[in-house]
Amino acid sequence: MKYTLAFDVYGTLINTSGVFNSLEEMIGEKANPFVDTWRNKQLEYSFRRGLMNQFVDFSICTQNALDYCCQAFAVDLSSKQKETLLHEYTVLPTFPDVKMGLQNLKEAGHSLYAFSNGSKNAISTLLINAEIRDLFNGIVSVEDVKVFKPSPLVYEHFNTETNSTPSNSWLISSNPFDVIGAISYGMRSAWVQRTPDSLFDPWGIEPSLTIKKITDLKDQLEKTE
Ligand code: LAC
Repeated sequence: MKYTLAFDVYGTLINTSGVFNSLEEMIGEKANPFVDTWRNKQLEYSFRRGLMNQFVDFSICTQNALDYCCQAFAVDLSSKQKETLLHEYTVLPTFPDVKMGLQNLKEAGHSLYAFSNGSKNAISTLLINAEIRDLFNGIVSVEDVKVFKPSPLVYEHFNTETNSTPSNSWLISSNPFDVIGAISYGMRSAWVQRTPDSLFDPWGIEPSLTIKKITDLKDQLEKTE
């Protein structure tokens, strides 16, 4: 069966630790916990804004989370340094398995979409820079429905935009909250367990598939038919 595949972007295709090197030059060994807290706060801010009906561009969540981390880690970054880090967030690299994995899926006849909290513009820039934009049929952003993942509205929006249904579409994500959100809405979802120590939330909702790399997905999808 040919599926419509919704690929989460940050953390799944694109490695958000890509800012780590610049950060390390700026703040030394604090860079490790800083980069993790930055990502966690960015997501927390998106969840909270969703609940509050206070949607903003996802880049604002990223920016506010950076300011939070500067306070939390007592780091005095200049506006220019912050600008550098935020710029790097717009040109992050992919994980090494991504391009080949997407190419295999496209050749197998599946429809590929990037599906993100990020704006269409931001995601387009990222994918072009990472040289994978051509592999996608399109980009679906939550900005159209003005609420963030994992609201069921965003998964429904994905189906509407791509003319697909919950039964012929899959979400592919390394973010457990995204996987659980899609399954709870009614789609199937593959969890990309990028490191052996990544945990899946023990909510009693299991991923439809667990893979380690995007290159594992084509064969795994065939086995589900
Ligand atoms: C995204 C975030 C959730 O790309 O990673 O939507």
